[in-house]
Amino acid sequence: MADIQVLPGLYQNGTGPGWKELVDGINGLKGVVVILGAPDTGKTTLALYLSRELQLRGCNVAMVSADMGQCAFGPPATLGMSVLKGPTSLKDLKVHSMYFIGSTSPVGHLLQTTVGLKRLVEKAQGGGAEVVIIDTSGFVEGGAAWELKFQKIELVNARHIVALQRGQELEGILSPHEDRKCRTLHRLKIYEGLRLKSYEQRRDYRKQKFSEYFQKAMTKGIPLGAVRLINPLNILTGEGCEGLYKRLLVGLNDDENFTLGLGVIEDMGLKELRLLTPIEGIERVKLVRLGAIRLDENWYDSRVKQG
Ligand SMILES: Nc1ncnc2c1ncn2[C@@H]1O[C@H](COP(=O)(O)OP(=O)(O)OP(=O)(O)O)[C@@H](O)[C@H]1O
Ligand SMILES: [Mg+2]
Repeated sequence: MADIQVLPGLYQNGTGPGWKELVDGINGLKGVVVILGAPDTGKTTLALYLSRELQLRGCNVAMVSADMGQCAFGPPATLGMSVLKGPTSLKDLKVHSMYFIGSTSPVGHLLQTTVGLKRLVEKAQGGGAEVVIIDTSGFVEGGAAWELKFQKIELVNARHIVALQRGQELEGILSPHEDRKCRTLHRLKIYEGLRLKSYEQRRDYRKQKFSEYFQKAMTKGIPLGAVRLINPLNILTGEGCEGLYKRLLVGLNDDENFTLGLGVIEDMGLKELRLLTPIEGIERVKLVRLGAIRLDENWYDSRVKQG
């Protein structure tokens, strides 16, 4: 799959307080590591640092990007998994597997996000990963966020929970895991020089990632008789419904529901789906999952209304 695009400036900037000790702790007690933090707290930087340092110490490491908005690798609206192999640099990392979410935020997609994360972690572990580092989204406020983080931690059976906090903002999410023998909580202070990204900067970042992803895309046709549509928003298809599905983002999934690539719908008749996609081997697509966002000609995303 495609080369990972690492965020500019990531990791090369150095380490943060307590990071080296954390590497030792994880190396001594291997398993799944969930990194939690509000937006702009250094989660992705820490995830990349841990992945690299543990791999350099001989661990079999995989990293999962569970942030479908400001993803460290892979296109937005997906979760991605990468297996670190050999003494390579971060820019040589490849996306090993993807899971389509179809939205750039977990809100309204909590189940998909949780299932997708579990499938990717299982895949990494099935491939021999002793340590799986999970970089999460900054969605940490409110009941839904609490539940999402709690259920994710349980489902992947996190051995380590790493919290990057400005103040006490994660304490509600962390408190159930205090003093549990099966989990180790690590509270880290964030790097002082961190600056908050604006809504526009985040939107521009996604646009850039989508435009890079679709740079070499071509129009291709999929016979609708050869695939199954997964259409939970019940977006009407067929003639006369162009306004509903035009430019909709879709996940092109294999038989196991892992994502081979993304497409943007150009046209959907009764017999054929025409879409813009960079993927090769379109005959491997078995499931087409309709997303909840549309991409405009400049690759900016917007949410679609439920049908
Ligand atoms: N320890 C550090 N030392 C120097 N720079 C850092 C450190 N941690 C993070 N940064 C810088 O801060 C910026 C934001 O970091 P990062 O993207 O890791 O945060 P995040 O919590 O993943 O953000 P988001 O909420 O967008 O996912 C990046 O430019 C990164 O290089
Ligand atoms: Mg991040």
